[in-house]
Formats: sequence, C-alpha cells, structure tokens
Amino acid sequence: MNKQTYKFPDGFFWGAGSSSYQVEGGIENNDWAKASQEGRVPPCGRACDHYNRYEEDFDIARSLSHNAHRFSIEWSRIEPEEGKFSQEAVEHYRRVLQALKARGIEPYITIWHFWMPLWFSESGGFKRKDSSQIFARYARYVVEQLGDLATKFSTINEPYSVVVNGYVRGNWPPFYEVPLMSFVDLPNGNATKQVPKRSWRGLFDFFTVANKLADAHNEAYDAIKGVRPEVDVSIVFQVFIWEANNNPINKLLAKLQTWNMTTRFMNKVANRCDSIGVNHYFYRRLGGSPKRQVSDTGWELYPEKIYNSLKILSRYKKPMYVAEVGVADADDKYRSEYIKNALLGVHRAIKEGINVKGFLYWSLLDNYELALGYDKRFGLVEVNYDTLERKIRPSAYVYKKIIEDNGIVE
Ligand code: BGC
Repeated sequence: MNKQTYKFPDGFFWGAGSSSYQVEGGIENNDWAKASQEGRVPPCGRACDHYNRYEEDFDIARSLSHNAHRFSIEWSRIEPEEGKFSQEAVEHYRRVLQALKARGIEPYITIWHFWMPLWFSESGGFKRKDSSQIFARYARYVVEQLGDLATKFSTINEPYSVVVNGYVRGNWPPFYEVPLMSFVDLPNGNATKQVPKRSWRGLFDFFTVANKLADAHNEAYDAIKGVRPEVDVSIVFQVFIWEANNNPINKLLAKLQTWNMTTRFMNKVANRCDSIGVNHYFYRRLGGSPKRQVSDTGWELYPEKIYNSLKILSRYKKPMYVAEVGVADADDKYRSEYIKNALLGVHRAIKEGINVKGFLYWSLLDNYELALGYDKRFGLVEVNYDTLERKIRPSAYVYKKIIEDNGIVE
C-alpha cells in the first residue's frame, strides 16, 4: 500500500519551548515567587535547575533533532530594580544563546512570559500609566544586549491569559476575580482557586490591562526596531477558538467571543508584528460537541484545531510559527497522537497557502505548570524533581522521526 506523506516546507523550524520561571529555578524576585510565599500558588523552588543545566538540556534537544528552541528571558533577573539592569544576567543569557548556536539550534526568544519583577507588580504592573514605556525600555535593552546572537524575538506571551487569569478569574497574580465569573465558561484550567479578591473592578481592569498590553507590544516594537531594525519581532497569541452548532444565537455568541478574545486585540498590534507566534490549547463549540479524551489537566484534546487558530490569524497576512501546542500526559499515552494531529492541522493550513515557518511543542521538559505546580507533565522529557534526572519519553522519539522526515509518513 502506498504510504501517505505530509511534507513540510524546506527549512521548517522544529523544536520545543520553555519559559524562565517554569524551568530555571532560583527566581525569588517576581510576583509569582511572592504569591507562593503567601501560599497562593505552589512553590517553584529550583524547578528543573535549567539555569545551571541548559547545556545538558540542549544536548537532549539536539539528540532529538530539534533545530529550534523557544525560551524566555526572566525580566526580574535582567531588571531586578526599576531602571537598574544586570550585566550578570545578560551574560547568562548570552551563554545560553551561544550554547544553542553551538548545537545548531535556532533561538526563539520570548521577552516576557507572564512573570513580573516585584518592583513592577507591586507598583501596579500593567495598570501603571507608564507601564508600556517601562516595558518598551526593558524590551529594547534585551534586544540591544542579545540581538547579535539571535534574530527572533517575541514581546509578550499570551496577553489574554494574563488578563483573564489575573483580573477576571482570580487564578494568577494579582488574583482579582469578577463576581459570578466562575459560572462563565471561559476556557482555561491551569489554575486552582486561591482566595481571590472579589471585585467588579476586574471587569474594568480586564479592558485597561488588555489595552496596556497592546500598547506595550507596540511601543516595544518601535523601541526594538530603533536599535536593531533587522530582527524579527512577533507577539505570541493564544487563540481561544469558539464555534457553534446551527443555532443562530450560538453562532452570534461564538463570533462575539472570537472578536472579544482575539481580533479586538490582534487588530491593535498586527501592524507592528513581523510575524505571529500562535499557541493552541482550547476549543469550545457552543451547542455541544462530542466528548473527547481529556489530558491530565482535564482539558479536552483537540490538537488539530491549531488549524483554526492559524486560519483566524492568517487574515493579518504575516508569517506565523506555532509557539506552543502541548499536552499534560504523565504516562505519555496521548502525546504522540497529539503531536501528529496538531501537525496534520498545521499541514492543512500550509497546504491552503498559510505561511507557517515552524512548530515548537510545549514543552521540552516537564516543568512548573503555573498554579497547578509540578503534578502536570507536559514534557517530551520527564524530569525527576528529587534527583533532577532527565528521561526522554517515547513520544519524543516519534516527534524526532517526524523532524527527520520533515513531515509525517504514515
Ligand atoms: C503558557 C505556558 C503553560 C502552558 C500550559 C500556555 O498558556 O504559555 O506557560 O505552561 O500554557 O498550561
């Protein structure tokens, strides 16, 4: 029987991702560390000790044939006090970049992935009037210092996760919950309720902070281009996908949600994106959909819907890359199929002419899964948190074969 192949474009970037607080360890000077001291989120501690073990981890990525890797810069290390920048932290990330380069792995740098330096969060975070300028100054500094070693920078990871979890649902710092919100079916689960501060003000904050994050991206874009016009600047956006059955009310609601959770924000920033990073985890069909298997986080598995995310964002006519799709699956039961099905979705988009440059699985290592702590395991590589030993999961080899074939051969 003829084999079916789904080939990806030449030069496609294949790899996995991580973020500073979730893997590095030893970070005490940010809002999440403070929340953990207050008992609101689980402690992070030494995490995967990736801060010291990045070379070993990149060896693993290389052995799995990855040619790209996404990671984030820890803002609280680079700017531990307002306006004071740490050369020591810069030197660390320069060594990280050199280690990737030595292994032929292309870096995708996220300038900010959720965690705020304490001085910033304590003084109001993105509710500060000057927050977009402060962020742009930090972003420019990062690119000034690292831009000779990398060309791909994204400003912000998932702006809506920050606003929805921090100001509407009360799951993440600063823990504001709009009353009655727990009755609204908003897709997100990486959280447990931790004595939120209930206030209607969150509704107002939702819009204020979302707008500030859009300004922050735009101002960071200009600031970065001012010092290094040649680098590629993106934003990483998670599209919450809403669809509906034939009921016209559901159809209208789904359209409204797509506008509210995606297009409203993206319309503001798309002009200042050289490319767009796309994350996918959730899908909702109003009016019901057949029940799917769920992951260890209880999220239904719809990896192929990455196609819809790419399709929705293709209206902006920018090159895109998949910055995250991933599954919490400690027993590695679903991960191989999950990756394949996601890639079939990406392949479908590419076949329709959508320009997708790469695919970065979330995550290379098991890591600190936000307010759910260390129980949920997204890694291609299992981490033993007692010994810090790494063990490559079988699905990582399935992904490796796909990478080596530059596509899926079935
Ligand atoms: C975030 C990651 C997180 C992952 C799984 C994404 O929203 O960018 O930091 O670990 O989802 O919950």
